[in-house]
Formats: sequence, structure tokens, C-alpha cells
Amino acid sequence: MYTKSLLWTFVTGIFALTTAAPLVRRAPATVHTKCTAPGTFALTFDDGPFNQTWSLIKTLNQENIKATFFINGNNYANIEQDSVSTPDGDKTYLDHLRFMHQSGHLIGSHTYEHKVLTGLSETEIQRQMNTLSDIVYKTVNARPKYMRPPTGAYDDTVLATLGNLGYEVANWDIDPKDYESYDLQSKQAIFDSYLNQETNNPPTSAHISLMHDVHPQTVPELVPWVIKQVRAKGYKFATVAECLNDSNPYH
Ligand SMILES: *[C@@H]1O[C@H](CO)[C@@H](O)[C@H](O)[C@H]1NC(C)=O
Ligand SMILES: *[C@@H]1O[C@H](CO)[C@@H](O)[C@H](O)[C@H]1NC(C)=O
Ligand SMILES: [Zn+2]
Repeated sequence: MYTKSLLWTFVTGIFALTTAAPLVRRAPATVHTKCTAPGTFALTFDDGPFNQTWSLIKTLNQENIKATFFINGNNYANIEQDSVSTPDGDKTYLDHLRFMHQSGHLIGSHTYEHKVLTGLSETEIQRQMNTLSDIVYKTVNARPKYMRPPTGAYDDTVLATLGNLGYEVANWDIDPKDYESYDLQSKQAIFDSYLNQETNNPPTSAHISLMHDVHPQTVPELVPWVIKQVRAKGYKFATVAECLNDSNPYH
């Protein structure tokens, strides 16, 4: 009887351990703002998927480029509910996630609702991250490991919470401000100011650029120009994980 209840205590103890919400404490999330592998260039697209994302994936695929999408679950589109007409017919936004993933692009998290995370409680930050992670997991069977906080903003609580959830933060060093105006030349000038600093071909520098596939000029006008310029300088396009030399881009 004594032995049996001891065993029972042991068994229920194990059960409690494996079913209780795990209290995982890890180091604060690392923040990256540049690629580390020399000569690599990571194109990143935030705030989608939206109504030009399908065309963007097709353009990238035709150019044999792997890019990174920091997606939202409920921002320009509600990705669990909405669909949109594309050059290949009507597609749900979950179809977009599958198309990205199958094409070899990296899916990163930009939170569920594009909430600026600074000042939020740990519980709300976890909700923003876990809600999107669950949608991505049920769609492509992988959970994002890289994330970009909306507006790039973070504080100690944000990094601590993201670190406990196993995320790494991928911000950027090149921001052409495609959200600000319809002035293509000003966006090109920002790219050129970085590209012209590199005098080696192949380059020794490495960059992460920020664009948004939701703004009208970005996909049809800015992206094709950027691809041409970046290629001419001799950079190799890579996902954020590849350009950080990380062979495990999901978890
Ligand atoms: C990337 O990883 C490979 C294999 O682990 C290693 O040989 C290489 O030096 C690394 N490159 C950089 C830039 O860290
Ligand atoms: C995408 O949606 C926006 C907002 O509804 C609209 O103004 C724009 O014309 C749409 N673009 C395409 C390519 O359908
Ligand atoms: Zn954003």
C-alpha cells in the first residue's frame, strides 16, 4: 500500500510535469540587424500576405531567389478567413503560406495582429506570438523561429519573453521607406547609398533589407529594380536564416 501510493505520487508527479504549462527560462532573444555571411543579401517582406504577395512569390521564384516573409495573421488580411484573386486564380491566404513554404522562402513571424510589443504584458506578447505560430504550424507543419517586432521596437520584457519562446529577432539595416511615399527614386537612392559603399565584387558586406509587400509600388516597381541592382553588385540572395548561417530556420 505504501509502495503503491509512493508509485502513484511518482506517476502523477511526472504527469503534472509533462502537462503543466512549461516554465521555460532561456536567455533573452538575440537581435540581428545584418547578415553575417559575407556577400549575402536577405530580402525581407513585412505585413502580408496581401493581394500582391502571390505575384511577388512568382517573381522571386522566376528569379531563383529565396526571400523571407515576416507575416501577420490578422493585419491587411485575416489569413484564416480571407482569399484573393491571383494570376493563378482565387487563393486563400493559407494557400499563400503553402506556396511560400513549398517555394523555399522562409516564413517568419511579425506577430498575429501587428501589435507593437513594447509596453505589452508578457501574456499578451505570448498570445501574439503563439496565435500566429499555431496558424503557421497547422498550415505548413513548421513553427517560425525568426521574428520581427512591428516597427522593429523591443524592450527588455519583449526580448525576455521572445527568448523564452525560442525566437530570434531579425531587424534590418536597409530601410528604403516603401511605406512613406510613392516616390520610387527616393527609395532607389536609399538602396544605392548602401550598395555604393561596397567596392568589392563579390562583396564582403552583407545586408538585410526591409520592404512591405502590401504597398502598391513595392512589388511591381521597387522589387524588380532591387533584384537587378543587388545582383549587379555580386551579392547572393539568401533567407535571413541562411545569411546568418543557421541551418535550422524553424522550430
Ligand atoms: C557557416 O557554417 C559553415 C558550416 O558550419 C562554416 O564552415 C562557415 O565558416 C560558416 N560561415 C560563417 C560566415 O559563419
Ligand atoms: C489591393 O487592395 C487594396 C486595398 O483594398 C486596393 O487599393 C488595391 O488596388 C489592391 N491591389 C491589387 C493588386 O489588387
Ligand atoms: Zn510591420
